Amino acid sequence: MIIAIDGPAASGKGTLGKKLAEYYGLRHLDTGLIYRAVAKALLDGGNRPDDMAAAVAAAKALDTSHFEDSGALKSQAVGEAASIVSAIPELRAELVAFQRSFAAKPPGAVLDGRDIGTVICPDADVKIFVTAAPDVRARRRALEYVALGKPADEAAVLADIRRRDARDMGRAAAPLKQASDAHLLDTSDMDISTAIRAVIDIVEAARAGRGRG
Ligand code: DC
Repeated sequence: MIIAIDGPAASGKGTLGKKLAEYYGLRHLDTGLIYRAVAKALLDGGNRPDDMAAAVAAAKALDTSHFEDSGALKSQAVGEAASIVSAIPELRAELVAFQRSFAAKPPGAVLDGRDIGTVICPDADVKIFVTAAPDVRARRRALEYVALGKPADEAAVLADIRRRDARDMGRAAAPLKQASDAHLLDTSDMDISTAIRAVIDIVEAARAGRGRG
C-alpha cells in the first residue's frame, strides 16, 4: 500500500505520516527532509539556494540511505532555503527516481511532502491533503521551536509560513496543490490524537472501496 500525504508547511503531515506508517507497518519518507538536506549542503558550501548546478550536484552527492531528522535540518533558515531550492525543476527531476523506488519497495510506504499525490505517486492507494489555518500552523511550529530550546517569535513564524505557502503553491514545477482524488483533512480544530484517528478513518474507508473524493 502506498499512502501519499501532501500539505503546506507545519500542517502536521509529517507527524501524521509517521503515525500512519507505524499503524500499518509501512516505511515512511518525509520528503521535505530531502529538500532540506540539499538546501543545507548548499548553505554549508557557501552556495546560494537558487544555484541550479550546485543544487543538482548536491542532490547527486546526497546520502539517501538515511535522512537525519535533526534540529539542524529543521531550522527555519534551512526550511526557507529548501523552499527556494525546491522550485528548481532540474533539482526536482533529480530526486524523482529515489522517491518512487522508496515508495515501490514492499510492503509499501507513506510519503509526505508537497507533490506526492500529484507527481511522485499519482497512483497511490490513498491520497490525503492535510491543511490547517496559517495562524494555527504558526502556533504549532512556534511550540516545536520552544520544545527544541530555540527562540520562537510567533509573528515571525507566521510571516515565514505565509511566504513559504505562497512560494510552494506559486512555483511552476510541481506546485503544492490538492490532487483531484485526494481526501482533504483540515486539522485546524483537531488535536493530534483526533487527527490521527481521522487519517486512519480515511485510509480504512479508501481500503473498503468507499470514501474517495
Ligand atoms: O515539509 P518541509 O517544511 O520540511 O519542506 C521544506 C520545503 O521543501 C518546502 O517549503 C518545499 C519543499 N518540498 C517540496 O518542494 N516538495 C516536497 N515533496 C517536500 C518539500
